[in-house]
Amino acid sequence: MATSRVWTFFGLLLFLLLSLTLTVAAEAEGGAGGAAAGEEAEPSAVLTLDASNFSETVSKHPFVVVEFYAPWCGHCKKLAPEYEKAASVLTKHDPPVILAKVDANDDLNKGLASKYEIKGFPTLRILRNGGKEIQEYKGPRSADGIVEYLKKQVGPASSEIESSDDADKLISDKKITIVGVFSEFSVEEYENFTTVAEKLRSDYEFGHTLNTSLLPRGETTVKQPFVRLFKPFDELFIDTQDFRVDALQRFVESSSIPIVTTFNKDPSNHPFVMKFFNSPNVKVLLFVNFSDELFDTFKSKYYEIAESYKGKNISFLVGDLDASQGAFQFFGLREDQVPLVILQENDGTKFLKSNLKPDQIALWLKEYMEGSLKPYRKSQPAPHNNNDPVKVVVADNLNEMVLNSKKNVLLEFYAPWCGHCKKLAPILDEVAVSFENEADVIIAKMDGSANDIPNEFQVRGYPTMYFSSASGKLLQYEGGRTAEDIINFIQKNRHVIDEHDSLQDEL
Ligand SMILES: *[C@@H]1O[C@H](CO)[C@@H](O)[C@H](O)[C@H]1NC(C)=O
Ligand SMILES: *[C@@H]1O[C@H](CO)[C@@H](O)[C@H](O)[C@H]1NC(C)=O
Ligand SMILES: *[C@@H]1O[C@H](CO)[C@@H](O)[C@H](O)[C@H]1NC(C)=O
Ligand SMILES: *[C@@H]1O[C@H](CO)[C@@H](O)[C@H](O)[C@H]1NC(C)=O
Ligand SMILES: *[C@@H]1O[C@H](CO)[C@@H](O)[C@H](O)[C@H]1NC(C)=O
Repeated sequence: MATSRVWTFFGLLLFLLLSLTLTVAAEAEGGAGGAAAGEEAEPSAVLTLDASNFSETVSKHPFVVVEFYAPWCGHCKKLAPEYEKAASVLTKHDPPVILAKVDANDDLNKGLASKYEIKGFPTLRILRNGGKEIQEYKGPRSADGIVEYLKKQVGPASSEIESSDDADKLISDKKITIVGVFSEFSVEEYENFTTVAEKLRSDYEFGHTLNTSLLPRGETTVKQPFVRLFKPFDELFIDTQDFRVDALQRFVESSSIPIVTTFNKDPSNHPFVMKFFNSPNVKVLLFVNFSDELFDTFKSKYYEIAESYKGKNISFLVGDLDASQGAFQFFGLREDQVPLVILQENDGTKFLKSNLKPDQIALWLKEYMEGSLKPYRKSQPAPHNNNDPVKVVVADNLNEMVLNSKKNVLLEFYAPWCGHCKKLAPILDEVAVSFENEADVIIAKMDGSANDIPNEFQVRGYPTMYFSSASGKLLQYEGGRTAEDIINFIQKNRHVIDEHDSLQDEL
């Protein structure tokens, strides 16, 4: 349950950021174009590891970054030249930073992939201290970005602020920075601060200082020691003097969530958008055209509402229509429904109101809290005529046609705009035709962008294929994309129901 929940939001996040990351990647490629061609003969600066030499290599180094990839993964291919370039810079760094890669798709390395909890590709992990400490890589994916992020990660978790120059470098109005202010660094408070900085270093930047006057905002007369968190939103900074490790960690995490998260094309907002989607809270998303004359009214009403729901485990986001094509595809919404608000619960249940006025949001939320709203389920109409070899499934008939059908169903989730799905279409046709005379095998497809996908299925991208056997077993298909591979998989996993089998026997 917990995992499927994560994937649901991961999926949405992916779609939200889709249009934006594509432009970023295209720019990066343009910039790198000239250099890439002549470099193929050079030996790679990235170490190739597999199960036979992984532990031995990692244990020799204090700081190793490992990319888990799959040969067929497009984002991995995009990352490869950037990662290579970063590796060639970082091997010369002092202390050296080792970049390595593991083909997690290779059966030999499945054990490694599961040990490091690899659920998608590419995934990068930072292994410190001979592999004893494992940290998620949360940095950028361009060569320069990787270098900069890793240089910071290999150094101390918190850097000392000794001048206003140091302060300017560390604290900006685009990100969160946490600064510990001490009268000396030999106290237990400083130790606790450093512990928290180590724990949270992949998400935040930390600094420490002996001189309060160097900080750009806030009272200078607060009694030391204290911790000041600078943030680019809401009250701009906030202090604490509670130095218990758990309390300090909670302070950092809870203070760094905006009252309302903004989603637009500004990349400095994206870390907060990530946090919004990673939170276990109920999520409310308001989509408005930020250029619309009513936007300011919407914004102030929405902030008021968000404030009034503080402490109720509900997170609020406002998204600009101009940046939200991905979200609209994901939810199957149309621009003429804007302004609109969606509420999504952790199990994927959604509530929706479109064409709303600023005054209607508060009432709508109140009705939600009272349980008087009807959930919204997106489904295409079921087709009248479903005679093609590959059958069409929609949200409204998914149970009947797949999960409770007592047939062996291979179901592809696709989207109309997905190129790999178009490539797969004739192959699925071929598979469907080859099973045409076997009534217990069905090949089907569902447009995941026009239908809500139930939580049993973890669809993180398109195409994704699942196999639901006649006995009710559900498997994700992760094999090759040839007709032969798919047919062999179905033959191996289909459950042939004996005439005498009763439902009881199967269960
Ligand atoms: C690890 O072993 C693989 C072959 O099993 C080899 O290709 C690779 O170069 C080795 N890596 C290191 C760092 O020795
Ligand atoms: C603290 O920083 C301020 C501003 O740069 C400076 O004027 C002052 O001398 C510093 N105090 C100490 C004790 O270094
Ligand atoms: C440091 O953290 C520990 C563990 O949370 C706590 O017991 C201790 O009181 C903290 N020290 C200070 C000075 O707050
Ligand atoms: C919010 O979530 C926390 C942690 O899961 C829980 O302890 C608390 O009771 C929740 N508050 C409300 C108002 O539901
Ligand atoms: C948002 O509103 C502006 C001004 O009314 C308009 O020019 C723009 O096309 C709108 N954007 C979208 C995506 O509809």
